[in-house]
Parts: sequence; C-alpha cells; structure tokens
Amino acid sequence: MILVTGGAGYIGSHVCMALLDAGLDVVALDNLSNSNQASLQRVQSLCGRSLVFRHADIRNEEAIYDILRACGVSAVIHLAGLKAVGDSSVRPMTYYENNVLGTMRLISAMRKAHVKTLVFSSSATVYGVPTYLPLDEQHPLGPTNPYGRTKLFIEEMLKDLYRSDDEWRLGILRYFNPVGAHESGLIGEDPVGVPNNLVPFVAQVAIGKQEKLKICGNDYDTPDGTGIRDYIHVVDLASGHLSVLSHLKQPGVLTLNLGTGNGNSVLEVIRTFEAVSGRPIPYEIGERRAGDVAICYADPTLAGETLGWQSTRSLAQMCADHWRWQLNNPCGYRGT
Ligand code: NAD
Ligand code: UFG
Repeated sequence: MILVTGGAGYIGSHVCMALLDAGLDVVALDNLSNSNQASLQRVQSLCGRSLVFRHADIRNEEAIYDILRACGVSAVIHLAGLKAVGDSSVRPMTYYENNVLGTMRLISAMRKAHVKTLVFSSSATVYGVPTYLPLDEQHPLGPTNPYGRTKLFIEEMLKDLYRSDDEWRLGILRYFNPVGAHESGLIGEDPVGVPNNLVPFVAQVAIGKQEKLKICGNDYDTPDGTGIRDYIHVVDLASGHLSVLSHLKQPGVLTLNLGTGNGNSVLEVIRTFEAVSGRPIPYEIGERRAGDVAICYADPTLAGETLGWQSTRSLAQMCADHWRWQLNNPCGYRGT
C-alpha cells in the first residue's frame, strides 16, 4: 500500500492514477486546503479501481501514524504542501509550518511505524538563479523565496535523516514546470481564484474567464525576450514517481530532476495554445515579476540513466490536454 500525501491535488491525483493503473494499492491523504475530493472520485472511475481516502493533515502525527499502521503502508509519496511563491513571501511562517513542520511530523510518524521509504516533491526553484544551463543536480542551490527555502530545508533534512539511519530509501524529485492534464479531460489543475502560473492563466483566457494575459517582461536575454521554462506534462511527471518507487529498493538518497530538457518561451506557449485550442490569447506586455529568472530548464540525463525514465509528451500535447480539461470543466471540480 502506497500513501500519497496531497493525493487530491493537481499532481497528486495524477500520481494516484499512475499507481492504480500499475496495479498498486493507494491511500490518498489530504486536508483539502487546496483541492477537491472530486478529483479522487474521478481517478477511481477512470481506472476502475478504488483507493482509500483519508481527510487528514500531515502536521497531525498521531493521525498519520494511525493511517500508516491501519492501512499497512510500505512507502510514502509526499506531495502535500503549500506552493504559491508570492504568497510564501507574505506568509512565510505559514509555509515553514505547513511544509517543513508537516514533513517533520510525517517523518516522525513513519519512523514509529517503521516505514522508511519516502519520495519527496521538491522543485527546480531550489536552484535559484542559474549559473549555467541546463541545470543538472550538481548545480549550486540557492532559492530566492520562502517557498523554495522550505523545499531546500526539507531536502537537507532528508539527507541528515539518511546519515543518521542508513535504512532509509529516499527519493528527492525536483520538478520543473508541470502542466497539462490527463488525456481523458477528467482530472487536471483546478486553481483557486486567479491562477499564478502561466498555462492555467492562458487556459482561462482561452475560455473567456480572464480577459487577457499579462506577459511578465519581454526584455529578458532570450530569443524573443520572454522567460523560458521547462514545461513537463503532468502524466510524464506522474510516471516518474512510479519509476523512482520501483528503483528505491536499496537504501540511499536519490536526487533527480524531472524535466524534459527543453525550454519554451512565454510567446511559444501562447502560440501553441492558440494553435491547439483554436482560440485567440490576447496579451499585453507587463513588468517583470519579482524573483523570476530569464531561463530555467533541466538536464534530465540522470533520471534517464538511473530510472530509464524520460518525458515523452510534447508542448502541443501539454496544451491540448490542458485545454480539454479546461473546456470540459470550466469551473474545475466545483462544477461537479
Ligand atoms: P496542489 O496544491 O494541487 O497539491 C498539494 C495538495 O496538498 C493539495 O491537495 C492540498 O490540499 C494538500 N495539502 C497542503 N497542505 C497539507 C497538509 N498540511 N496536510 C495535508 N494535505 C495538505 O499542488 P501540486 O501542484 O499538486 O503540487 C504538489 C507538490 O509538488 C507540492 O509539494 C508542490 O510544492 C510541488 N511542486 C509543484 C510544482 C508545480 O508547479 N505545480 C512545481 C514543483 C514542485
Ligand atoms: N508568466 C507570465 N504571465 C503570467 C504568469 C507567468 O508571463 O501571468 C511567465 C513567468 O514570468 C515565467 C513563465 O511565465 O517566465 C512561467 O511562469 P509560472 O508562474 O508558470 O512558473 P514559474 O517558473 O515561475 O514557477 C513554477 C512554480 C514554482 C516552481 C517552479 C519550478 O510556480 O512553484 O515552476 O518548478 F518552483
């Protein structure tokens, strides 16, 4: 039985789907602070298998311990966390409490329950401002916002945990920019309020919920002046979790980038989304967003060599799948 914390969320629901599809049993835990349990109902009807859902908070050590024991959990995929970069500067202590303290409580419960396999959702944001590209796992770390620092501190905590007890099997996955949705159009990203991230915002412009996109700067040192990122299809990302789980048979700490190795600019994303949706994406050029880097993309070689994993879906597929989800669910899960 695999415990997925944050299982009702955007990436979590796709991870649950991948695990169930692979024949594994799943208990999904979530406090539903940024998600809707409907995502998991859809996951179950899509794959024709059921999972166990527990409405719980990772900061509640006792509750986590009970779930680990009662469900016979053998490994944890830990995605629960707060993730809004801007908000993390406004309420840093909330982020440290939720992400760092929450992970400490989770680990404590795991130790007591003798569950010592953990896959953790880290982020490319731990690299901060790139000093070279593409970003490999050896690149110096230096996040520029509290959210990124929660990820870095948890990474360091996990390494110390292994140094103190070499029975742990730990996977640290640094995601680049997850976008897209399951190809069924039934599960996808359901942001609360105005989306912070590019692709969800573009999708809401396409469907008419937002009037136009503001491009955050077109004076970067990039071919078209707009920021470049490594967008990765959420289904490819989810399959990376399955690969790492089957690789964590030996104790150790495995830190891997999950990205495509390709960079695309904001304008390229807009053009691709327009092409697959057939809808215009009006935009205006705005100021640079504080803390944004010009270019960020992965060197995914290590994940390829270690796991035999690589992303397979193109930017056009990411946009097409994101669009299908948006079109079928204009109000996200709240419309259900
Ligand atoms: P999400 O908000 O959709 O999912 C996170 C889930 O965790 C939500 O369902 C939320 O309700 C739950 N949660 C939050 N705090 C909790 C707590 N204390 N106890 C129990 N549940 C809690 O976000 P996502 O995009 O699916 O991200 C999943 C993970 O991946 C996060 O840790 C995020 O930091 C990381 N990540 C995301 C991105 C991205 O761009 N989406 C990039 C890099 C890393
Ligand atoms: N952008 C716009 N307009 C918008 C939103 C974004 O032009 O309305 C631009 C940004 O300036 C950037 C690009 O689109 O150049 C991508 O921005 P996102 O907000 O979609 O993604 P980020 O790379 O800023 O950050 C995301 C997650 C972080 C994570 C990081 C790396 O939000 O949590 O990817 O994984 F850490």
